[in-house]
Amino acid sequence: MKFTFPNNFLWGAATSSYQVEGGIDHCDWAVEARGGKVPHAGKAANHYNLYSNDFDIAESLGHNAHRLSVEWARIEPQEGEFDEKEIKHYREVLQNLKDRGFYVSLTIWHFTLPDWLYAHGGFKNKKSIDIFSQYSKKVVESFHDLVDDFVTINEPMVYTSNGYIRGNWPPFKKTKLAHFKVHKNIVKAHIAAYENIKKDFPKAQIGIVKDNIFFEGKNIITKTIARFLIWFWNHRFLNSIKNHMDFIGLNYYFHSVIGEKPDPPFSDFGWSIYPNGLYYMLSDLRRYNVPLFVSENGVADADDKLRSHFIEDHILAVSRAIQDGVDVRGYYYWSLLDNFEWAAGFTKRFGLVEVDYDTMDRKIRESAMVYKRISTTNTI
Ligand code: BGC
Repeated sequence: MKFTFPNNFLWGAATSSYQVEGGIDHCDWAVEARGGKVPHAGKAANHYNLYSNDFDIAESLGHNAHRLSVEWARIEPQEGEFDEKEIKHYREVLQNLKDRGFYVSLTIWHFTLPDWLYAHGGFKNKKSIDIFSQYSKKVVESFHDLVDDFVTINEPMVYTSNGYIRGNWPPFKKTKLAHFKVHKNIVKAHIAAYENIKKDFPKAQIGIVKDNIFFEGKNIITKTIARFLIWFWNHRFLNSIKNHMDFIGLNYYFHSVIGEKPDPPFSDFGWSIYPNGLYYMLSDLRRYNVPLFVSENGVADADDKLRSHFIEDHILAVSRAIQDGVDVRGYYYWSLLDNFEWAAGFTKRFGLVEVDYDTMDRKIRESAMVYKRISTTNTI
């Protein structure tokens, strides 16, 4: 049976500045790439220059919304000094989306820190709370007329666990104490930014993007572990900011079966594909009583063998949640373009659009047309 989505449902794709723009050489990832600890992003997908061409593609694919981020190191190259030329550039990018009638979701901070803040300990330093709040206010001041919602922070748990527990992202720490401090400061930074913005822009929609994992246990012990992880990973951060968020963006990629290898299929990343998990994760977020967006959902699939089904099945899961009464307002596929996949460099391809990194040519994948059929008919 066909399901028709609500009239104003948002269909789009997401990107983040460091992963697609290119030419960013004064953030923590660029510093560490020069030191050989992480791959170089270099020109990435050259989206900084090709954005209008890329938005032509998004429009041709029937999208009516787009999620993107601004690069902190471009906007605030030195503490308290804002680069008006870069602000103008981002205004042109956002205006370009608005001219097409797109709903625009802007992420204020998507993983990368300016080098000066990195040198001062990033979010481990208490001063970062105020610094982040000032920066966020500047972003909203500069772009509020061109943006429909602002996300303060992308995936706080991924940032703190990769940087401070697993130690595979800058600043490569593996200490629980540092993780604890950074987590606490990021919670405070979000709340400070929220309050600071609302003082002058009470109508601005300010939310969070949270990646939640569907943890499952199959016996009494693993079920207990799963329950703990559901609290620790999915709810701890959200509980701490629950009075300071106008919406939640859910990033959903995979599920995790404690102590067991989950069932296939697996993406090129080895992540298990489990569309039902999206239904469960959306239903589970109902408790916060705020509108929900699927702010990222995608698959690393260089051959485009899995992506069409991946998209259909996950959107079906979204439709089931909506039929149950869950307030889901939109879906953003990750990602519009192939891009720089952090520690994995350019080896993983998530795009609806394939990027040839030598020529910077774009090629629309078949799966993008499957997504187009859904978004333009508004039905699944
Ligand atoms: C992040 C993206 C990333 C994607 C796939 C999310 O964790 O927000 O930056 O590329 O997942 O790994």
